[in-house]
Amino acid sequence: MLVSAKDMLNKARDGKYAVGQFNINNLEWTKAILLTAEELKSPVILGVSEGAGKYMCGYKTVVGMVNGMIEELNITVPVALHLDHGSYEGAKACIEAGFSSVMFDGSHYPIEENVAKTTELVKTCNELGLSIEAEVGSIGGEEDGVIGAGECADPDECKAIADLGVTMLAAGIGNIHGKYPENWTGLSFETLAAVKEKVGDMPLVLHGGTGIPEDMIKKAISLGVAKINVNTECQLSFADATRKYIEAGKDLQGKGFDPRKLLAPGFEAIKATVKEKMELFGSIGKA
Ligand code: 13P
Repeated sequence: MLVSAKDMLNKARDGKYAVGQFNINNLEWTKAILLTAEELKSPVILGVSEGAGKYMCGYKTVVGMVNGMIEELNITVPVALHLDHGSYEGAKACIEAGFSSVMFDGSHYPIEENVAKTTELVKTCNELGLSIEAEVGSIGGEEDGVIGAGECADPDECKAIADLGVTMLAAGIGNIHGKYPENWTGLSFETLAAVKEKVGDMPLVLHGGTGIPEDMIKKAISLGVAKINVNTECQLSFADATRKYIEAGKDLQGKGFDPRKLLAPGFEAIKATVKEKMELFGSIGKA
């Protein structure tokens, strides 16, 4: 059964570790992440962007697949199914479809509008026992080939949004989605500490987990980050393993073209990446 991310994140905050949010793209991704979490007895959050939701034939298909796998694979660790960077409409659709957690990314709205929309969604999520993530300060990343720097959130705006009763808060601290550029100046721990000071117990979320050096991840966790999102790194490992398989000509040997064989190295590569992250985040054995 899917659970809200609330308990797992409060425990992570108290225990000074972080729960990984791993974004899913298809059946292989989902199975790899769930099996790794179960093997390592780690709580886990499956992230679904609106684009990935569309790709997987809609939120209802995703809910059906994830619930089916939890049952058929005997997954006993806590699993939250979470909408990543949701619009207001997307969040409502996911709530309706059976997600256990949503992110409403109102960071591009003026703060008043972000507050109004977040307030309404918090009310709905509370009534249904779902968790909700909000964002302040936009997370940079690559758009049309230009890599934008990650914004640093205003701690007072973070406090205003945290006070609306969200479960967890993503604050921009110079982090960006995708690979980090050569000239990236690193996470702003000053901003993180200032945000933490204002929001108190609220579990903080670090987006753009791909490529952040280990020491920065550990420091971020020590300063209140309880959830770390990883997407690109699993995509890179999957692509790399699949390319090696094809380049070695294995798809041309025997039944190597069978998708169950062709996609197996990529599947194993996702498992290895998820394991590495869970070790780094400290969530192993915390289920
Ligand atoms: P990366 O793709 O950089 O790992 O970021 C993932 C993320 O933050 C999803 O919200």
